[in-house]
Amino acid sequence: MGAGGAKPDFRWRVGGNGRWSFPSTGLTCGMTPVQEEVLALKKRKNAVILAHNYQVKEIQDVADYVGDSLGLSYQAQASQADIILFCGVHFMAETAKIVNPGKKVLLPDLDAGCSLAESCDAADLAAYKQLHPNIYVVAYINCTAEVKALSDVIVTSGNAEKIVRRVPADREILFVPDQNLGEWVMERTGRKMRLWQGNCYIHIEFTHASISKIRREYPDAPLVAHPECVRAVRMLADEVCSTEKMISYCRNNPAKAFIIATESGMLNRLRRELPEKEFIPGPTETCACADCRFMKMNTIEKVRDALRDEKPELLMPEELRQKAFVPLQRMLDWSKN
Ligand code: 13P
Ligand code: SF4
Repeated sequence: MGAGGAKPDFRWRVGGNGRWSFPSTGLTCGMTPVQEEVLALKKRKNAVILAHNYQVKEIQDVADYVGDSLGLSYQAQASQADIILFCGVHFMAETAKIVNPGKKVLLPDLDAGCSLAESCDAADLAAYKQLHPNIYVVAYINCTAEVKALSDVIVTSGNAEKIVRRVPADREILFVPDQNLGEWVMERTGRKMRLWQGNCYIHIEFTHASISKIRREYPDAPLVAHPECVRAVRMLADEVCSTEKMISYCRNNPAKAFIIATESGMLNRLRRELPEKEFIPGPTETCACADCRFMKMNTIEKVRDALRDEKPELLMPEELRQKAFVPLQRMLDWSKN
C-alpha cells in the first residue's frame, strides 16, 4: 500500500533515467546485464535512445522515448543530447539526421531497411515528375531521404489526413509510396490523389479472411488496424490509426480486449501502458505473427555495441539533407497548427 493507504499505481512509466518504474513504489524494473550496460553508456555519453513502437521489448525498456514516426521526429528535432541512438529503421534515423544535423545519429544496424521505402525509387520519382511537372508530391515518411528531397510535403500515419487537407486545392497530388495509406487518406478527405503502387510487406499480410476469423473468436474485442493495411481489412476495423493513436484509443475505450492489426512490437507498448487490458495480435494469412524483419534486426546487444563504439553512424551529404529538410519541416509546422 502507498502512503495514506492509497492504492499503488502499478503502471510502468519511463523515468528520466530511461528506466521503466512503478512511480508510487519507486521500484525499478529488473534489467538484464546488457540493458544495465546500455543505461550506463547512455548516461556517460550523453546519448538519448529513441525507439519506434515496433521495437523488441528489451529495447523499448531502455529507451528515453518510445513512439510513432511523428512523435519520434519531434523528439529528434528537440533533442539536446550529443548522440541520438535511433532504434527503428533506416529512413527513421535519416529523418533524425535531417531535422537535427548537429547530432551524431546512430542506428544499431544500418541494414535495417523498409520494403515500403524501397518500393519508391528516387530515380523513378524524378522521371515521373519530369513527365508531370505540376504534380504536388505528398510523401509518407517511410521513404528515403532522396525521395523526401523530391517531395513537397511529408506525412506520417498520424497526420496524413490533416496535411493533405492543407495542400492547395488547385494542385494535383501524387501520394508516395504507400497505396493503402494513400487510399485511406482519400476516403477520409474526399481528395483525389494519384497513388504510387507501394506497400508494406507486413501490413498486406493481414487479409479479410484472417481478420474475420479472429473477430469471430473474440466478438466483443474492437479491431484496431494500421492504415497500411489493405482496404478489406480497414473496412472491418473499429478504428484505423497510427501506432501512437492506438494507445489512446485502447485507453479510452471501455472494452477489455482488443485485436491489433499491425506489426507485433506494438503489443509490447500496449501491454506495458495498459496492463489491465488484453491485446490479441491480428493473425496474418500465413502465420500468427507479424514481425517486420527490418525492425527486428535491432537487438539489445547491437544497441550496446553502437553506443560503446559510436557506430554505425548515419551520414548524409549536406546538400541532400537540406533538400529533404524543406518538406519535412513543412510537415512539422503544418502538423502543429
Ligand atoms: P507509425 O508508427 O507512424 O504509425 O508508422 C508505422 C510504420 O509502419 C513504421 O514503419
Ligand atoms: Fe517498413 Fe512495414 Fe517494416 Fe514499417 S513494418 S519498417 S513499413 S516494412
